[in-house]
Amino acid sequence: MKVAVVGTGYVGLVTGACFTEMGNHVVCIDIDEAKLDRLRAGEIPIFEPGLDAVVSSGIEAGLLRFSSDIAESIKDAEYIFIAVGTPPGEDGSADLQYVLAVAKSIGEHLKNYAVVIDKSTVPVGTADKVHAEISSQLALRDADIDFDVVSNPEFLKEGAAVNDFMRPDRVVVGTNSEKARQKMTELYSPYLRSSDRLMFMGVRDAEMTKYAANAMLATKISFMNEVAGLCDELDVDVENVRRGIGSDSRIGYSFIYPGCGYGGSCFPKDVKALVHTAEQSGFEPTLLAAVEKRNNSQKHKLFSNISGYFKGDLKGKRIAVWGLAFKPGTDDMREAPSIVLINALIEAGAQVCAFDPVAKETAAREFPEQWLADGQLQMVDFQYDVLKQADALVLVTEWKRFRQPDFEAMKELMNDAIIFDGRNQYDPDYLKSIEFKYSGIGRNNFK
Ligand SMILES: NC(=O)c1ccc[n+]([C@@H]2O[C@H](COP(=O)([O-])OP(=O)(O)OC[C@H]3O[C@@H](n4cnc5c(N)ncnc54)[C@H](O)[C@@H]3O)[C@@H](O)[C@H]2O)c1
Repeated sequence: MKVAVVGTGYVGLVTGACFTEMGNHVVCIDIDEAKLDRLRAGEIPIFEPGLDAVVSSGIEAGLLRFSSDIAESIKDAEYIFIAVGTPPGEDGSADLQYVLAVAKSIGEHLKNYAVVIDKSTVPVGTADKVHAEISSQLALRDADIDFDVVSNPEFLKEGAAVNDFMRPDRVVVGTNSEKARQKMTELYSPYLRSSDRLMFMGVRDAEMTKYAANAMLATKISFMNEVAGLCDELDVDVENVRRGIGSDSRIGYSFIYPGCGYGGSCFPKDVKALVHTAEQSGFEPTLLAAVEKRNNSQKHKLFSNISGYFKGDLKGKRIAVWGLAFKPGTDDMREAPSIVLINALIEAGAQVCAFDPVAKETAAREFPEQWLADGQLQMVDFQYDVLKQADALVLVTEWKRFRQPDFEAMKELMNDAIIFDGRNQYDPDYLKSIEFKYSGIGRNNFK
């Protein structure tokens, strides 16, 4: 089958490359020429486990190519995926300018019937807008070409994206067209272990499903962070509470880990966008607004713990940071809690030395060059190097390599043996027994 994917970011590149695995011909389209050049040279612009092998085998098999020419790329395509960004606008709504720009190009250049697929996360009603934009462009050139617009939201997780795409829990397709339904079944069947994993529904239902999924996960995280805050006040260890409730099969363990807030390119923007959609439709999103508020304050939690320990005087303090990416397994730092923490520390006069296994380059683009030049912010290549003369260590991203570090060696390197654990990775009793001070999230800090 011939597939065109417009937008070659995290979602578009994974989607395009994984479709070649089953023998489909795929062209990945982007407006970023530099990114396309890197891809053509076999370089993967993002860190995503297993993606390099899938991309290179697609290229070697002659099934995967990259182009900035949408007209040429979609002329034979049976499937045209829209996988461009939908960043938050100033009012929190999803900014649809990139999606609609692609719809316009499709309308300008479509030659034959194709299924146009919204894979970007877009608000309810967007497929209608995409349909209207394509139709109006076709009308302008007096072209009578049939097409369908379907919603096919993406549920992949960065850090496990290839596996999620190749073995999805479910594939959601919103369409009212029988023809599009058959085409989508043909395309996705090889990826599904059972046919009930391919879920057809109305277009608007599919659009809403994506937001509801992300909002539910964000809600679980914020709920647990709120419980952790209360545990701090009540002299309770939230980790015992987490185990106690997670063992209830109605609740389960996933997404109830307290921490320093959720980040990434999806949860924060999707919760905001759903709040906006609700407000626009005259419905008060009480719970969702609170989820967002809790998360925003949670991202300041580590700084407030650190500042409290140093009695508000962070001038000249050297703070070591482990982990910059918004979660392990990716170099993505969009909305990462590390950004809020590092900005606050440096503004308070501290010097920060950070290590992340893969996000160093992303971080160099995220923070002011001047900080790096002046040494207010240092980024090192080895995890123990951050600890030299450090007055405290902060664990922000729970990469596996931070799980069982050499605490004795760490104590030797640090000025003061104290860990602020933003992911509750360590055992406070054990750390106390080896003379570390410990501050977690919701766990009897320093007691
Ligand atoms: N990243 C994730 O984990 C994830 C998961 C599920 C869904 N999503 C959703 O998928 C969508 C894409 O997210 P992403 O993280 O892949 O974004 P991204 O920013 O990594 O990639 C978007 C790409 O689209 C390109 N682009 C923009 N306008 C274009 C145009 N007119 N023509 C061609 N290319 C164009 C950009 O240059 C960029 O390379 C968003 O709606 C996001 O919410 C993301």
